[in-house]
Amino acid sequence: MTNYNLKPNHRHFLDISSISADDAREIIEKAKMLKKEAADQNHSKGSVHPDAPLQDQALAMIFEKPSTRTRVSFEMAMHQLGGKSVVLQNYDMQLGRGESVSDTARVLSGFVDAIMLRANSHEALLEMAETSTVPMINALTDFSHPCQIMADVLTFEEHRGSITGKKIAWSGDGNNVAVSWIHAAVLFDCELAVACPKEYAPLEQVVGWAKNNGGKVSITESPEDAVVGADCVITDTFISMGDEDAEKRLTDLAPYQVNSALMKNANEDAIFMHCLPAHRDEEVTADVIDGPQSVIWDEAENRLHIQKAILMWCFGK
Ligand code: CP
Ligand code: NVA
Repeated sequence: MTNYNLKPNHRHFLDISSISADDAREIIEKAKMLKKEAADQNHSKGSVHPDAPLQDQALAMIFEKPSTRTRVSFEMAMHQLGGKSVVLQNYDMQLGRGESVSDTARVLSGFVDAIMLRANSHEALLEMAETSTVPMINALTDFSHPCQIMADVLTFEEHRGSITGKKIAWSGDGNNVAVSWIHAAVLFDCELAVACPKEYAPLEQVVGWAKNNGGKVSITESPEDAVVGADCVITDTFISMGDEDAEKRLTDLAPYQVNSALMKNANEDAIFMHCLPAHRDEEVTADVIDGPQSVIWDEAENRLHIQKAILMWCFGK
C-alpha cells in the first residue's frame, strides 16, 4: 500500500489501527456516556443535544457505494449534536465523472470541517486524507470498516462487560469487516479466532501486523474450532459490495454459515452479531439471527451512538 504522507495533526479516523488504544477506549466510553445521557433525558430522535457540541461543525459524507445504517446514523449524529451534514453520492458529483479524489478533498476542505468517505478503494481514502486539510472518516472501503467495529465493541460491552480478554469468533469471509475486527482485537486486547477457507483469509499483512503487535489472532479453516469458548460469534455477508464471483462465494463459504449447530459449540451465553445487511440462510440461519442470542438491533442502533463519539473525537471535543 502506498505510503501516504498523512498530516499528523489531523484527527483522521481511517482505521482502528491508526489511532491509539487510549483514543479507541475514549471513543467507546464517550459513546456509552452520550447514549446514557440521551436515554436518561428521554431525547427524541429529532432533538438536538442541549449543549449542541458540534454546532459550529459541518460534515460532508461521500458515498461511492450504497448505505442505510452508515448514512442515516452519521446524518442523525450530526443533527443531534447540533452540526450540519451534506450527503453526496459520487454519481452526482464531478468525482463520478473523473475529478480526482485529491482535488475533491481539497475543494471540500474549504466548505466543511470533516469529510466522511465510503469508498470503493482504500487507496482513494488514503489519497483523500493526504490532500484534505480537515479530518477524514473511513465509512467503509474494500479494506476495512472501522466505524462498524467500534459499534460492535460498544455492543459487546453492553451485553457482556469489558471485551478485554474475551473471545470473539468470526466465521465466513475474511473481508473488510473481519480486518477491522483484527485491528480491534489488538487495540482492545481480546482474542479473535477467524474461520474461513484459505482463499478467503484476511490479508496476510493485517494478520502479521496483529501478531507483531501482540494480538491474540488466529486463523483456522474450522468454524467448529474457532467458536469453542467464544463469547461472541460473528459473520458477515458472503458477497460484499464489489464482489463479482457470487455463485462461487456462496458455494465456497457455505460450510462457514452460522447456524444453531455451530452456536452450540460456543459458550452457552455467547451473543451473535452481524453488521447487516444480512442474507438469511446464506451466512446465517434465521433461527440464529432472529433468535435470543442475537443482538443485531442493538448493534445497528449503536452505529448512531458511536458515530457521535467518533465525530467528537475527530473535532477534538
Ligand atoms: N453495516 C453497514 O455499514 O450498513 P450500511 O451499508 O447500511 O451502511
Ligand atoms: N462486507 C460488507 C459490509 C457491508 C456493511 C460489504 O463490504 O459489502
